[in-house]
Amino acid sequence: MIDLSWLIDPIYIVTIFFFIIGMHRMSHPLTARSGIVWAGAAMLIATLVTFLTPNLTNFALMAIAIVIGGGFGYIAAKRVAMTGMPQMVALFNGMGGGAAAAISAVALLGTMSATTGSLAVIGGLIGAVSFAGSIIAFLKLQGWMPPRPITFTGQQILNMAVLIIAIVSGIFVVLQPAWIPLSVSVYLPLFFVLSLGFGLLMTLPIGGADMPVVISMYNAFTGLAVALDGFSFATPNYAMVIAGIIVGAAGSLLTLNMAKAMNRSILNVFFGAFGATEEKGVQIQGSMKSIEVDDVAVMLAYADKVIIAPGYGMAVAQAQQKVKELTDLLETKNVQVKFAIHPVAGRMPGHMNVLLAEAGVAYDRLFDRDEVNPEFPSTDVVLVIGANDTVNPAAHRQGSPLFGMPILDVEQAKNVVVLKRGQGKGFAGIENDLFYRDNTRMLYGDAQETVGKLVQALKKL
Ligand code: TAP
Repeated sequence: MIDLSWLIDPIYIVTIFFFIIGMHRMSHPLTARSGIVWAGAAMLIATLVTFLTPNLTNFALMAIAIVIGGGFGYIAAKRVAMTGMPQMVALFNGMGGGAAAAISAVALLGTMSATTGSLAVIGGLIGAVSFAGSIIAFLKLQGWMPPRPITFTGQQILNMAVLIIAIVSGIFVVLQPAWIPLSVSVYLPLFFVLSLGFGLLMTLPIGGADMPVVISMYNAFTGLAVALDGFSFATPNYAMVIAGIIVGAAGSLLTLNMAKAMNRSILNVFFGAFGATEEKGVQIQGSMKSIEVDDVAVMLAYADKVIIAPGYGMAVAQAQQKVKELTDLLETKNVQVKFAIHPVAGRMPGHMNVLLAEAGVAYDRLFDRDEVNPEFPSTDVVLVIGANDTVNPAAHRQGSPLFGMPILDVEQAKNVVVLKRGQGKGFAGIENDLFYRDNTRMLYGDAQETVGKLVQALKKL
C-alpha cells in the first residue's frame, strides 16, 4: 500500500486553521451556524486522516466505533428539544472527557518517559473527573436524579482524601518505585476508579441551577485533558494539542462569563451548595393581580414603546414564532419593540438569541442587559414572557440568595405584564418580588397560547 502518512501533519495544520475560523465565527450569533460547520468539518477531516497512520491494525474497530458514536450523536442531536440541550451538551462533553481518559490509559499501559507519563496522568485525572462529573450533571438536568445539592458532613475531607490517593496512585504508575506495597497493575485501575469517584463526589453537592456553569467548566477540563493527551504520544499530536487548548480556553472564558452574570464566584458555584438553603423571614408586600388578554392587547396597541423580556418559559412553550408575529403586528401599529436579553435567561448561553433568530427576529432588535436597563423607565409596557429569576428585584435585597445577581430592571417600566402558567417559581426556587408590585399584572397560561391570543385580540383592534 502507498504510504501517505506524510500527509497527516500538513492536514492537521489545515484542520487547526479550520478550528480557529470555526471558533471565531461562533462568537457572533449571525455567523455561529457556519462556525459549527467549520469546526465540524475540521473534526471530520482530523478523524479521517487518522486512517493514514502507518501499520494500523484496528481499522475495523475504528470504523465500528465511528459508526456507533457518529450514529448515536446524529440521532440524539436531531431528536433533542431545545430545552433538553444543556443535558445533551453535558453528555457529549462527558464522552469527550471519557475518551481523553481512555487515551491516557493506553499511554500509561505502554512504555513512557517520566514526562509523557506525567502528562498522561494529569490528562487522565482531568478527563475522568470531567466524564463522571458530566454524567452527574446530565442525570440531574434530565431529572433522573434529584437536582438539589447532595451534601453530608465530612464531604470536603472525603473529596480531598480521594483526590490525594488518586494523585499518589498516578505517581506510582509513572515512577514505579521499588518500595511501593502493591504491584503497579493495582495502582493503574485504582487511579482511574478514584479519579472517576472524585468527579462524582465533586458534582453531587452542586444544585441543578448551577449545572450549566459546571458543564461549561467540565467542557474546559475536557479540552485541557485532550491537549495534555496530545503530548503523551511518542510524537506529539498537535491537532489534539491545539484543538484541546482552544476548547479549554473558550470553556474557561464561558464559565467565567456565566458565573459573572449570576454574580457568583467559581468557588461558590462548586462549594456553595446554592439552593440548599432558602431565605427565611421575608414577607413580600402586596398581592399578585391578574389581567385578561383583551386588556393587555389594548395596553400594547396604545403604547409607544414595548420591551419583551423572554426567559426559559418561552423556550418551554416554544412561543418564539408567536412572539415574532406579535412584534410584527405591533410595528404595523407604530409601536417600537425591543427585546431585553439577559445573559443567563433560559438554560444555556445564548438560549434566547438562538430561539429568536430561529423565529426570524432581527438581531439588531436584541439588546443586552447593560444596553437596555436604562430604557425601562421610559417604557410603556414590558412583556415578561416566561422569565423569572432574571427579572427578580430580590437580587437587590441583601440576604436574598439572588443578592447581587445582575438583573433586567423591568420593574422600573410604567407597566409590566408577566406571562406564565401559574405561580411556579424560577429555576433558583425563589419567590419573585416583581409579581407583587403595583405596576405588575399577571397573564396566566402557556406562553405560546397566550401570545397567540394576544395576536388575535390585537388584530381586532
Ligand atoms: P426561570 O427563572 O427558570 O423561570 C422560568 C419561568 O417560566 C418559570 O417561572 C415558569 O413559571 C415559566 N414557564 C415555564 N413554562 C412555561 C410555559 N409553557 N409558558 C409560560 N411560562 C412558563 O427563567 P429565566 O428568567 O430565564 O432564568 C434562568 C435561570 O436559569 C436563572 O436562575 C439562571 O441563573 C439559571 N441558569 C441559566 C444559565 C444559562 S447559561 N442560561 C446557566 C446557569 C443557570 P410557571 O411554572 O408558573 O409557568
